[in-house]
Amino acid sequence: MTGRRPDAAGRAALALYRGAPWEARVHVHVRWWSAPFRRLVQLLPEAGPVLEIGCGHGLFSAYAALTGPGRRVVGVDIDADKIAAGATAAARVPNLELSVAPDGAVPAGPWTAVAVVDVLYLLPAEAQRHLLEAAAAQVAPGGRLVVKEMGDRPAWKVRWNRWQETLSVRVLRITAGSGTFTFVPPDVVAGWLRDAGLTVTATRLDAGRVHPHHVLVAERPAAG
Ligand SMILES: C[S@@+](CC[C@H](N)C(=O)[O-])C[C@H]1O[C@@H](n2cnc3c(N)ncnc32)[C@H](O)[C@@H]1O
Repeated sequence: MTGRRPDAAGRAALALYRGAPWEARVHVHVRWWSAPFRRLVQLLPEAGPVLEIGCGHGLFSAYAALTGPGRRVVGVDIDADKIAAGATAAARVPNLELSVAPDGAVPAGPWTAVAVVDVLYLLPAEAQRHLLEAAAAQVAPGGRLVVKEMGDRPAWKVRWNRWQETLSVRVLRITAGSGTFTFVPPDVVAGWLRDAGLTVTATRLDAGRVHPHHVLVAERPAAG
């Protein structure tokens, strides 16, 4: 259960949604318990402009803003309903802004960090690569792209994740998407990021969890 229980900033982030519709409140609590946000937030620089692409209701963006007052966090998503549900939360955090990304466009940087958390699998492989290349182009020299997805092992966690995603996208429809998932192996995604000129470190985050969580940290060399 390491790192699952919300810390003080996690509790504060979840509390921001108290006035939100019940579906949004349930969703953000499920996201907290299923995703390793406490590990991920530590991968962000302590200060500077941070973009989250595909922020959903904005829980991770809010957590990043609350844990780093020196960060200016912008979260974008294609789902206008989720952004609307997160708007009240965002209004209470001065260094947080949530907005709709028309057609999934990547807002212009330079960003000290860009985070993409459990978004890519909803897109076809070519669109994933395109999104990451567009995101990488907006990372400042010395900055980083943090890509959290599901890994390709162990097999039982991969099967569990597919079942759960089928339930949330196709049956419950709580995540926007075509209903097909494309889990590209982390090694392949790391290759795309290296081709984009970044230095990549891969880490499994699935210890003690039923999902095969995995993160790539892709750094742009500092200028000069
Ligand atoms: C599983 S949710 C993850 C939300 C959030 N990152 C989190 O960790 O709680 C995936 C989100 O990606 C969004 N999404 C899918 N394709 C996108 C795109 N091209 N640009 C921006 N957001 C996108 C969906 O609307 C959805 O809110």
